[in-house]
Amino acid sequence: MSFCIHELAVNPHIQDRLRDEVDSVLSKHGGQVTYEAVHEMSYLDMVVAETLRKYPPLTELDRICTVAYTIPGSNVKIEEGTKLIIPVYAIHHDPKYYPDPEKFDPERFTEEQKASRHHFVYLPFGEGPRICIGMRFGLIQTKLGIASLVSKFIFSATSKTPAKLQMDPKATVASALGGINVRITART
Ligand code: HEM
Repeated sequence: MSFCIHELAVNPHIQDRLRDEVDSVLSKHGGQVTYEAVHEMSYLDMVVAETLRKYPPLTELDRICTVAYTIPGSNVKIEEGTKLIIPVYAIHHDPKYYPDPEKFDPERFTEEQKASRHHFVYLPFGEGPRICIGMRFGLIQTKLGIASLVSKFIFSATSKTPAKLQMDPKATVASALGGINVRITART
């Protein structure tokens, strides 16, 4: 949610479009930020997906190879017992998969764009038998929080808001060096 708020503050046109969607859906649901209302917010889904692309909370996944395997199309053989690191942050910032990767662009998560990429180049919740068991809960609480905040407040950049956040290289869960600073103004 913090990284999302930062991106909304530095990309006011995205924030405006998101707020238009939130206002319009909430007006149909009596102003209540419910589970059903959040599911109707397709642009919110794209904004949260792009936040998790640019700032995956777990920047890498760990695995131990259980069966010797040769990577297809190469002579790289992984022996049983080898410890592996899947570099999620690096994959999410690889221009081969996400052109201009530092740009915050929710359009990367239209149905067409998602279908055009390899499934495993987007790993904010991991993959396979050990995929995050709290994925749906994590997504819904994040979306409820963002929809609720955007409906009540406007976020803007201040002199303390960098255009590009510096990530803390020592953090185990993705964190911004110096924290996240934005101006929060109540909507009238
Ligand atoms: C936006 C929020 C969240 C993100 C980005 C996230 C991300 C992840 C990632 C990357 C993994 C490792 C998956 C892998 O190795 O393939 C994981 C595992 C896990 N997550 Fe989450 N998570 C989130 C929320 C939650 C919540 C809300 C819960 C519990 C209510 C939860 C419980 C777990 C558990 C128990 C595992 C270990 C699963 C296993 O090893 O079998 N997570 N999560």
